[in-house]
Amino acid sequence: MCGIVGYVGHRPALGVVVEALRRMEYRGYDSAGVAVVGPRAAQTGVVTVEKRAGKLANLTGALQVDIAADPDRFAGTTGMGHTRWATHGRPTDRNAHPHVAGGFAVVHNGIIENYAALRAELEAYGVEFESDTDTEVAVQLVQHHYVAGSTAGDFEASAYAALRRLDGAFTLLFVHAAHPGTIVAARRSTPLVVGVGDGETFLGSDVAAFIEHTRDAVELGQDQVVIITAGGYLITDFAGEPQPGTPFRIDWDLEAAEKGGHDYFMLKEIEEQPAAVENTLLGHFEGGRIVLDEQRLSDQDLRDVDKVFIVACGSAYHSGLVAKYAIEHWTRLPCEVELASEFRYRDPVLGRSTLVVAISQSGETADTLEAVRHAREQKARVLAVCNTNGAQIPRESDAVLYTRAGPEIGVASTKAFLAQVTANYLVGLALAQARGTKYPDEVAREYRDLEAMPALVEKVLATGPAMRDLARELAGADTILFLGRHVGYPVALEGALKLKELAYMHAEGFAAGELKHGPIALIEDGLPVIVVMPSPRGRAVLHSKLVSNIREIQARGARTIVIAEEGDEAAATHADNLIQIPAAPTLFQPLLATVPLQIFAAEVAQARGYDVDKPRNLAKSVTVE
Ligand code: M6R
Repeated sequence: MCGIVGYVGHRPALGVVVEALRRMEYRGYDSAGVAVVGPRAAQTGVVTVEKRAGKLANLTGALQVDIAADPDRFAGTTGMGHTRWATHGRPTDRNAHPHVAGGFAVVHNGIIENYAALRAELEAYGVEFESDTDTEVAVQLVQHHYVAGSTAGDFEASAYAALRRLDGAFTLLFVHAAHPGTIVAARRSTPLVVGVGDGETFLGSDVAAFIEHTRDAVELGQDQVVIITAGGYLITDFAGEPQPGTPFRIDWDLEAAEKGGHDYFMLKEIEEQPAAVENTLLGHFEGGRIVLDEQRLSDQDLRDVDKVFIVACGSAYHSGLVAKYAIEHWTRLPCEVELASEFRYRDPVLGRSTLVVAISQSGETADTLEAVRHAREQKARVLAVCNTNGAQIPRESDAVLYTRAGPEIGVASTKAFLAQVTANYLVGLALAQARGTKYPDEVAREYRDLEAMPALVEKVLATGPAMRDLARELAGADTILFLGRHVGYPVALEGALKLKELAYMHAEGFAAGELKHGPIALIEDGLPVIVVMPSPRGRAVLHSKLVSNIREIQARGARTIVIAEEGDEAAATHADNLIQIPAAPTLFQPLLATVPLQIFAAEVAQARGYDVDKPRNLAKSVTVE
């Protein structure tokens, strides 16, 4: 939520920053802005800033005009930039970042929770505010410290003094017109990474900000400040005491963060799903046993588990719903799946023998992070399933299983979702193995079946043209319903979420058995209903119940679009449109059945003329509660 970039080095900062913002735009696109500290700032005493409401293209358009009028205006080798997902204040030019006061400029991700009190305090000193944002208190506060008191005239000391007054979650970058060559940055509960180049140093909300320049990065911890110059970086705590950073090498390249010939990242990411599943499985079955990544939980810890909670948001939550079927079936442990945003506020019963599985692509989602913190305060063990190395959620967890989907840029989760579903199966099998609820050969058989899934996912991609045709036909619909049973139910929820977020269409997913308890009243002539059929080779009762549900809605005029296993005669008979997927073990079917629904949502969105990668009002990672 909000993308932040910073640069100090030897190149013109503006180009580096704007290019980095392009890669950060998926984190927020309500407005964008840049600040450069160069000769012009030295002359005027004010950092050179441009910012615009709307997508990055509005900012780059404004910059072209600025530079045409005054080619040297943005000269300088220190700069920073911001793409905003608005929390406080409408997405206007005025509320866009950077915010400026005196010689300072600030960009911010997060929420400054005590901003109202600080604003009142500063107003009492005569400070006049220009925006409706919480962020502006940070820049007014640092300026206040710079002009008065013991920190007067000291850029870094003023920044520390201001930071110590702030509550909430924030990544903040400070620059000052009189101090080119330095950026002071801080993070608390929102992300910030440092990129270390040759004579240049970068800051980014994530490594995509600087991947084209360096693959050497440094992870910051909670409540840390980093001061960067062209020559390197210094990490401290908020009191200024030096702290170690965690250097790491980025293990993917620029190509992974590019569209690779596709119109949208999402379309590329859908196609990358076989690899995402395959890579997530890699190395997790060794010597006939399931092994997790950073398993800081012993087999005894896993044996002691008497209850599993899965906490997550959005698509990650849906992946958790799939996991519940597998975990309960394989381990006979009770497993509850909770929306992370609800979990900690309802006083869940947790203890040392509770395993909390926190699923998050970004590893930054504030709701999930707070759920993890709550679980650990209650002494529960936390296992993170995460797609981002070293993100806050895995850092604060007892164990980690990384999904290896690679960077997911499209706001709608696709390959990360399939990778989460895959990783969750591994968690279930690891528990079953440790607890002895499955014999080693049974675990091995399940794993072999999982290993066969990437090739089947590849085959499902062939449903693309059929889904595209259907999408064009149904793009004008007002409502589309999704039905499923068993593991098909979370798939229905996921299909509906994709359509809502991308095509802004009313879509609801239902457990098919619930239909008669209310939702069937929605069925009217011609209403499209997408049905996820369970395998006819699985539990016969499930399959026949869903056939009955199809007949019930058809009798009331619904148009049935049925996703069914190849060879499912009953589904073929009752479907107005039949989408066939390969046969797979029932528990693993979500890895296949979800894919046509992703393609469908992306195609409906395109047919309706929407930006598939940047749906309105959304951002890739939600770092505020
Ligand atoms: O990064 P996370 O996995 O924690 O994100 C959770 C949700 O915000 C995310 O899955 C969201 O629902 C997606 N946009 C759905 O496509």
